[in-house]
Amino acid sequence: MNIAGSVVFVTGANRGIGLAFAKLALAKGASKVYAGVRNVEGFNASGIIPVQIDVTDEASVAAAAKLCQDTNVLINNAGIGIVQDGVLASNMIELSRHLMDTNTFGIVRTGQAFAPILAANGGGAVINVLSDVTWFSLPTIAAYAASKAAAWSVTNALRLELRAQQTHVLAVHVGFVDTDLTQGFDVPKIEAHEVARAAYEGLEEGALEVLVDEGTQFIKTTLSQTEAFYFNPPQFA
Ligand SMILES: NC(=O)c1ccc[n+]([C@@H]2O[C@H](COP(=O)([O-])OP(=O)(O)OC[C@H]3O[C@@H](n4cnc5c(N)ncnc54)[C@H](OP(=O)(O)O)[C@@H]3O)[C@@H](O)[C@H]2O)c1
Repeated sequence: MNIAGSVVFVTGANRGIGLAFAKLALAKGASKVYAGVRNVEGFNASGIIPVQIDVTDEASVAAAAKLCQDTNVLINNAGIGIVQDGVLASNMIELSRHLMDTNTFGIVRTGQAFAPILAANGGGAVINVLSDVTWFSLPTIAAYAASKAAAWSVTNALRLELRAQQTHVLAVHVGFVDTDLTQGFDVPKIEAHEVARAAYEGLEEGALEVLVDEGTQFIKTTLSQTEAFYFNPPQFA
């Protein structure tokens, strides 16, 4: 499906990859772009409509959906990442709950609220912004990686569930992107607009999955190999 003419709702759209998704949607000719943001005050991007949404709050998600009944492309981008001491650190379970509440259950909440709207508008699409850490982890990002691996699993189930209503579900996996989330990581990073561009191209081609950068493409190819990437990933955090 095409972004041109679509009504797009992006979560976490006030900065980083989400803002890039919102701006590119407008540039590609979307008929309306909703920026789902936690704080509408101070959001000022010409032509983009800010809508309050906190993906950890069911009532907030429901209120946003009620306001945006014409949405036919939902982009689940909102996410958080936290560096931790290790898997066995005392805060691992609490931290995992916190990260999953946003990164995994956030997708479920928006799906519950927006799926009927997408159906009413002809099916449309859901784009879920996932990560290369779907397919590897480190002790220092264990909770984040677990939340993204779980989000991938949820995405795969959602794709099957929404097929009946003709909603296309696209998973977008990407490595390091130059945003606030990766501040302090001294590694090569791609630009946020490259993620949005690759995702929209994938959607337009009918792809089920987009692996944005070469690193992510490589990691996935090693999954069935004896020397799979996840056995010895480099330490970056
Ligand atoms: N940067 C990377 O290298 C990278 C790589 C792979 C995947 N990703 C994924 O890409 C997505 C966007 O990340 P980013 O790099 O653009 O990060 P970012 O610059 O830190 O932006 C995160 C966005 O998510 C929003 N957000 C966080 N919690 C939210 C909640 N409960 N409800 C609604 N919005 C919430 C933030 O809003 P506030 O401004 O209110 O905090 C912000 O707009 C995330 O899902 C992340 O996991 C990023």
